[in-house]
Amino acid sequence: MSHFEIRAKECLARIGVFKTRHGDLRTPLLMPVIHPGKSAISPTELIEEFGFQMFITNSYIIKSHDRFKKKALQEGVHGLLGVDVPIMTDSGTFQMYFHQLPEEEIDPLEIIEFQKQIGSDVGTILDVFSDPKVGKAQVEQDMRKSLERAKISVDKKGEMYLAGTVQGGIYSDLREESAREMAKLDFDVYPIGGVVPLMERYRYADIVRATLAAKKHLPPDRPVHLFGCGHPMFFAQAALLGCDLFDSAGYAKFAEDGRYMLNTGTYHLKSLRELPCECPVCSRTTAEGLNSMKKRDREDLLMRHNLYVSIAEIRRVRQAIMDGKLLELAAARARGHPNLLEALHVFLDHYDIIEEASPIGAASSIFYTGTETTKHPELRRFQKRVIRRYKYRSTDLLVLVPDLGGRPYFDSYPDLIRAVRKTKAEDVILAFVTPFGIVPWELEHVYPAQQCIFPSALDVDAINTGLSRVSRFLQSIRFEKAVWLCKDTPMNSIREKLSAFASIEIMEKTSDVEAAILAHINERANWKLRKIRALFKYQWDIDDINLDGARVVLSKSTGKIRYISMDDDIVFTLVPLTGLMAPTFKGGKLLLEHGISTVYRVIMDDDAVPFVEQGKSALSKFVKAAHPDLRAGEEVLIMDSSDRLIGVGRANLNGNEMLAFSRGVAVSTRHSK
Ligand code: GUN
Ligand code: ZN
Repeated sequence: MSHFEIRAKECLARIGVFKTRHGDLRTPLLMPVIHPGKSAISPTELIEEFGFQMFITNSYIIKSHDRFKKKALQEGVHGLLGVDVPIMTDSGTFQMYFHQLPEEEIDPLEIIEFQKQIGSDVGTILDVFSDPKVGKAQVEQDMRKSLERAKISVDKKGEMYLAGTVQGGIYSDLREESAREMAKLDFDVYPIGGVVPLMERYRYADIVRATLAAKKHLPPDRPVHLFGCGHPMFFAQAALLGCDLFDSAGYAKFAEDGRYMLNTGTYHLKSLRELPCECPVCSRTTAEGLNSMKKRDREDLLMRHNLYVSIAEIRRVRQAIMDGKLLELAAARARGHPNLLEALHVFLDHYDIIEEASPIGAASSIFYTGTETTKHPELRRFQKRVIRRYKYRSTDLLVLVPDLGGRPYFDSYPDLIRAVRKTKAEDVILAFVTPFGIVPWELEHVYPAQQCIFPSALDVDAINTGLSRVSRFLQSIRFEKAVWLCKDTPMNSIREKLSAFASIEIMEKTSDVEAAILAHINERANWKLRKIRALFKYQWDIDDINLDGARVVLSKSTGKIRYISMDDDIVFTLVPLTGLMAPTFKGGKLLLEHGISTVYRVIMDDDAVPFVEQGKSALSKFVKAAHPDLRAGEEVLIMDSSDRLIGVGRANLNGNEMLAFSRGVAVSTRHSK
């Protein structure tokens, strides 16, 4: 049974709620590591002054000091730390590794039992930490030993949540095997272990590969903890990988060494003349002041600064996920160190796993941040889908016009758009050539075509990406003739290279292109239906929707489609955020009549039917069947178990997640019977 629920997503990142005996937690979340005996800042102050919600402490350290042990056994770990918030305990794995302790030092089952006795909210198994230097054979052996311990520990967890660490070092195959096996066991949290030495050596790309290899197999309904990642410069990227929990011992260790953390990197206090930070510590003192203090005082203030910076970054990460801006935040942070930028590219090259997790449509625009933007999963997905599902495949005249950066396209090319509205697709297809590929005119309002902001000066990667996507589109279309409208934009350089694929006539003047389009009018065209058919094909892969007698209503101010009605009933409305159609209940019936794919049908357990029929959301725990190709953000039909329509709505999760989660909303119902 999972205790985790998802509220918002971006890439693999999620805003979650993690329910514990000591309260509900909002993730991503950072736990300061508390040493039971020498926490320089009291846990109470960490809650009240800094806003931390949860701590992690070490059960092995508690158990091996009589003073701590006695108190913890009498008053619980909460009594020992003097707080009433959720507390996670680690097992001593890291101490075994760091101090090279003998195997007999900690018994794997005894330490689980002890964590239960002291009332830990989340205990941890005694996994085996491998140093990256030891070589694959040893890492494999350690991983298998961790697995054996996991198997014997998980049955003993009782009421306590238990964290089962994935090991396997930098070897993706070992990480995959570890995660696949661990996933079969009922752990409540899945930490990614063994990354501390990688963090210390800035080996972020290795962390990305290891984490994604694990994420591929971990159950989506359990929080993932990146063990020992406490530096704010990596939080955004780690959240993007799907890490929900973080712990930081670094705030204190760094302070001890006079190191000043920022979300852009680490600085030696001695080298600073200014304190480039807005936290209370840095506002009240100066670099000179800090440097001339007694070591103890300096350490205390540095520690506080490190904590303020770290928790602020976690808040920023959470807000960014809700805004669909985490990838941009990670891109900004990646400018703090070349290894972070390299890691971000490694991440983005794992398109399939990112795409599966990414919701369709986001709350805000995609801003170009650098060459990584050409790999943006939403832009890639849009282009792939256009190539797979664009309805019109054959035309006399293909008109290619470069994206001038203005939105909507109507503002850049009003005459061309007016002209093409008079034609049929068999006569003329108008396509915008953008740095992220082709936007057919019919799909101009679909996310992210309208919501993607590129600078007018483009880098070589953007141009090359544009080129390869445009050529793929050209290969998917039959046309008698193609024309290219020449404009003063770097996109123009694509045209020359495209001549390898097709002969393309160049036109310098918009009015000539307009005349060429108008010359192809054969009979009166219904452009609204042309657009809607393209949209149905793109959105639901429905080829020939019968809309006889439908009325299409446009927005007076923007000219965008607003809704479609039939016999005075609205059947579809356009969702402004995604540019996709949302059916009403009647529209849902129409989709069924047109044999909409099972990808877009979510089947509910009979217990849930009365709730959905009253307009309540379709909860994950009642989902009986959902298609693995279904993505979060899609407009779907909600069905009962005999395939009868009971409602329509927007998917909050993808198909696999809907089946995995036992908490939270699977589909937000828009309309029901
Ligand atoms: N602390 C930092 N890394 C690890 C790890 O791999 N396992 C455990 N149990 N604790 C850690
Ligand atoms: Zn500061």
